[in-house]
Amino acid sequence: MAEIEKKPIKIMETILRDAHQSLIATRMTTEQMLPIIDKMDKVGYHAVECWGGATFDASLRFLKEDPWERLRKFRDGFKNTKLQMLFRGQNILGYRPYADDVVEYFVQKSVANGIDIIRIFDCLNDLRNLQTAVSAANKEKGEAQVALSYTLGDAYTLEYWVEIAKRIQDMGANSICIKDMAGLLLPYKATELVGALKEAVDLPIQLHTHYTSGVASMTYLKAVEAGVDIIDTAMSPFALGTSQPATEVMVETFRGTPYDTGFDQNLLAEIADYFRPIRDEALDSGLLNPKNLGVNIKTLLYQVPGGMLSNLTSQLKEQGAEDKFYDVLEEVPRVRKDLGEPPLVTPSSQIVGTQAVFNVIMGERYKMATKETKDVLSGKYGATVKPFNVEVKKKVLGENAEVITCRPADLIPDELETLESEMAQYKQQDEDVLSYALFPQVATDFFKYRDAQQKKVDTTIADTENGSYPV
Ligand code: CO
Repeated sequence: MAEIEKKPIKIMETILRDAHQSLIATRMTTEQMLPIIDKMDKVGYHAVECWGGATFDASLRFLKEDPWERLRKFRDGFKNTKLQMLFRGQNILGYRPYADDVVEYFVQKSVANGIDIIRIFDCLNDLRNLQTAVSAANKEKGEAQVALSYTLGDAYTLEYWVEIAKRIQDMGANSICIKDMAGLLLPYKATELVGALKEAVDLPIQLHTHYTSGVASMTYLKAVEAGVDIIDTAMSPFALGTSQPATEVMVETFRGTPYDTGFDQNLLAEIADYFRPIRDEALDSGLLNPKNLGVNIKTLLYQVPGGMLSNLTSQLKEQGAEDKFYDVLEEVPRVRKDLGEPPLVTPSSQIVGTQAVFNVIMGERYKMATKETKDVLSGKYGATVKPFNVEVKKKVLGENAEVITCRPADLIPDELETLESEMAQYKQQDEDVLSYALFPQVATDFFKYRDAQQKKVDTTIADTENGSYPV
């Protein structure tokens, strides 16, 4: 009798990045993470996602931590496990396109400080916005994974995804990720999509989804049966809801099948025991909203990612217009259509969401357009899959507006030298200029805080040496 070929499914653990970004606004500290990484290193994960995305901004802004220092500590602790980061193409980890020299230097420093795999995506799936980062990762001998921002809409046919996957293979990527940030990929659609991609390209295919709409673990099951190579999961205390399916559950699902991961469930239980009190504390403090743990079927209805839903709620609260929530939710798909039907992922999700809020609150659509809406319509973020609404474009930009069709970064002159001179007085390590490039104000505040902390330490030592402390 023929043996069934074994094909253990690979697991990427997200608890140190996406899971806490999705559930507790990226507030887990390095101090909370470090004590458990020795155990996490023994699991046998394909990789641990632990850096990039919103972690960089949140570290500097809210936690007063140096993100580079966090990365180096991870690298010291994870001796056997690959470290993965999320990278927004030409936008790096920020919200606007940067010059190529900044993108290249950021990739270089990320790899030098310990990153093995860089997952690169563009909010418009404009591959021109990924080329610089992919080439830089190739050059630094990092793994360049290109992520397709998955979304639904007229333009997003199976043929579209297959075509774009082939182009990604040709551009030098080492693997492809289907990045379903809103949890829109349904189980039987996953069978079709994964099957089609596996047939079209030779690269490993990874699937990333969120539990927001409640279908995620079924989607993984069908994707694995269809031949997907890697799935993204989160340890149970920070799984489900707006996060990923639980690691332990997926591991158990495939036990004794050809997809068996071979992971030690007792070891996983010890890791879960460690994170559970951190989750409970976040629940007690209100940082973790229990609403985010349930099924939100509105994401399927409005195709809005979970993170965007909570952003819209807080934007409306600030305007004292919470009663307009459902009007805004219905406006989101309309704005998205006007702007060429982009996927909704950072930063397009913020751009579409904020414009939808304006349209509803002002009582007239596009009476006021944000700078970002104007930039999208001028082509500064790249090419969209569908054309813009001509009427909207005329209203927002005027009759004879200048629009660009080239790769947006071709028009951005090199920035590194200017940035270096602006922040020279705060520089303590090469990487500081990159923190400053991404978030000039936030990074400057952090540098000042860091200087003050160091002065404090210096005084303490000096005082001790002066003998003013009892020994
Ligand atoms: Co995600």
